[in-house]
Amino acid sequence: VSSYEALQRILKMKKNIILLGPPGAGKGTQGQLLSKKLNIPFISSGDALREEINQKSAIGEKVDSFIKKGALVPDYVIEEFIAAVLNKYDLSRGFILDGFPRTIHQADFLNNYLKDINAKVDAVIYISLPEEEIVKRISGRRVCKQCGAVYNIYFNPPKHDMKCDRCGGELVQRPDDKKEVVEHRIKVYKQETKPLIDYYNNHHLLYEVQGQGILQDVTERVEKVLNDRT
Ligand code: AP5
Repeated sequence: VSSYEALQRILKMKKNIILLGPPGAGKGTQGQLLSKKLNIPFISSGDALREEINQKSAIGEKVDSFIKKGALVPDYVIEEFIAAVLNKYDLSRGFILDGFPRTIHQADFLNNYLKDINAKVDAVIYISLPEEEIVKRISGRRVCKQCGAVYNIYFNPPKHDMKCDRCGGELVQRPDDKKEVVEHRIKVYKQETKPLIDYYNNHHLLYEVQGQGILQDVTERVEKVLNDRT
């Protein structure tokens, strides 16, 4: 089966996809690639929140201190926000959701939201990564201030010194990528988000992918697990 046919099969069977995993596992990187290939929206709660902070909106001001500390935004705030974000998209062909849900409460909320629009979660891709690798990847991450493209000074550097390959924008470090904040994000992930692995496993929706290795290898693994189970 050609790679194109395989992707078309995924789209027929598994179109509502959640990406789960520790900070820096590559959820955003893989999600954006998959979204382009499958031609379905990529929706990142972290990106959407950072956009609100940049625009200095009321919600941006409310969430800024949580994100800076590496804490989770409270469920009631993020749930209302994400519903408003999802409402803006045409989800009928599917979607890739990165960063939401992050607690069991949020997972139940998402199930109810999807039920109301006659949809459901089809697959949860859990990208795993050892802690040492997480810290290395996050410390090297740089993000384009203008278009949000993600680079890594160690693993995936821009072609021209600290300028975005796509739009020429300035590359910056995320404020929550500082070492102390990353350590806290990992702790919060273990306490609040890791229980979702069992939650989705119990619902027979979990597909684990090893996040180590070069980007293209991880992409292949993601496509393979989705394709194998269709
Ligand atoms: P969010 O933006 O979701 O952060 P995160 O989950 O910590 O995930 P990251 O964006 O750090 O990592 P990623 O897995 O996307 O990795 P990436 O692809 O960039 O959330 C930020 C904050 O917002 C939270 O702390 C919280 O405060 C708040 N928030 C968001 N959602 C919330 C919710 N639902 N509830 C409550 N609060 C919420 O890759 C990382 C780096 O590695 C990059 O530099 C990349 O180039 C590189 N890389 C990727 N793949 C590879 C590879 N295979 N080899 C080498 N390098 C690689």
